Amino acid sequence: MNVLQEKGIPIDKQIRTWHDIVKRPYCRAHVDCYSRTRQILLNGIETEAWSFKHHFVRKSDDMELNKTLVKIRRLEDMQQTTVNWLCPANQTVLDTTLGYEQVAVDLTAWLAQNEKDKYVKETFDFGLLEDFDHLYRYSQFAYMIEETDPNEIVQKMTDVMIARPTQNHHNCNAIRIRKPYDKDKTSPETKVNILTLISAEQQTHNFYAEHGFMYGNNDLKRLYAEICDIEEEHVTMYETLVDPNESMLEKWLIHEFTEVCNYHNCYKDETDERLKLIWEEFMQMEIAHLKVAAELFEKYEKRGADEVIGSELVLPCHFESQKEYVSKVIETEADKRLGGKQDYNKIDELPDDWASYKVQEMVAKDGAPSEQAIRLSMQSINRDIAHAEEKLLRKQADILEKGLQKKAQAPNTVTPDEYKNFEKVERIDFIE
Ligand SMILES: [Fe+2]
Ligand SMILES: [Fe+2]
Ligand SMILES: [Fe+2]
Ligand SMILES: [Fe+2]
Repeated sequence: MNVLQEKGIPIDKQIRTWHDIVKRPYCRAHVDCYSRTRQILLNGIETEAWSFKHHFVRKSDDMELNKTLVKIRRLEDMQQTTVNWLCPANQTVLDTTLGYEQVAVDLTAWLAQNEKDKYVKETFDFGLLEDFDHLYRYSQFAYMIEETDPNEIVQKMTDVMIARPTQNHHNCNAIRIRKPYDKDKTSPETKVNILTLISAEQQTHNFYAEHGFMYGNNDLKRLYAEICDIEEEHVTMYETLVDPNESMLEKWLIHEFTEVCNYHNCYKDETDERLKLIWEEFMQMEIAHLKVAAELFEKYEKRGADEVIGSELVLPCHFESQKEYVSKVIETEADKRLGGKQDYNKIDELPDDWASYKVQEMVAKDGAPSEQAIRLSMQSINRDIAHAEEKLLRKQADILEKGLQKKAQAPNTVTPDEYKNFEKVERIDFIE
């Protein structure tokens, strides 16, 4: 469809009742893991749509524009409530956390494989490995504290094992800044891909910041603090890919287009009939938001909306198992690090005064919570909570050897030799 020619649900018909806003949640026991990842992602998309419009209005003194923005902003907020609250009350914070990291892994892997801009793709691959390692660290606590087999949540679609170790993800935030794309040369697809990922990472950051305190266990609380800080870096990394010279109206247009594309992709893929209806209804709402944004963009900037977003929908969030792709990235890129020139280096190419060493030494002086997660598993059950093909699991010690920096190691670092021992002990009986 040519999205700019569709009508959608008129804005004035989009205000809903409280009964309609709060819908019946999905079932924790029966939901497909990719229905859950869609719900998590779309919540992040709505949060971004809402907060962007706040920033826009704070900078704008145009009453006509502001009246329209605040009207649509309330609708985004209502959508966000509906989508977020599809999460059932009996899904624990750790369950949801595993879902968030599954989103990050499988979404980023999908985007990386479909991204035509090489630098953007490299950045996606770089972030992918970090979120993959987060899933592994959180899984230790899900098992130890709540007796949750990570496969109850990720349903064998995503592997659970070590990648680039989390303690090495902390950087001087200034070197996370990436090179922006050129707004006049970049495809609508790249713009949508990046905004989709910014929204997901920002949502993940906010979720950890707002829920980490809900556990009384201090080691777990610290793990939330540690990974929350990395998600903050991820938001920095992805948002600086965006051309800062886009006008606010241009950004608004891209935001609404991103919403349409995400709902369309989720609607197309959804297997749960009830969720599918919601994604369809919300896509129709977004089409109307896009129409308004396009009209205002054309009126104020005197150029066609299609110059910015084209006329074809893009597919920014198809979820399927990405084990094969992810395992290739782990094997080739565990030792990659952020360079000082907005580029990427291998560990052995880093200068002695690499800016991130200092940060890592400071934050892990008393031990890294992400290392403590594994230590606690070793002490309490002498098992590694990991799930992947046996031949991949047997490479964990080598991956760690390659991916772990010699400098700035936390005092409680689990060594490659200790990983070799995991091969000798019996594995946890994961759901098959
Ligand atoms: Fe929305
Ligand atoms: Fe993560
Ligand atoms: Fe992340
Ligand atoms: Fe919208």
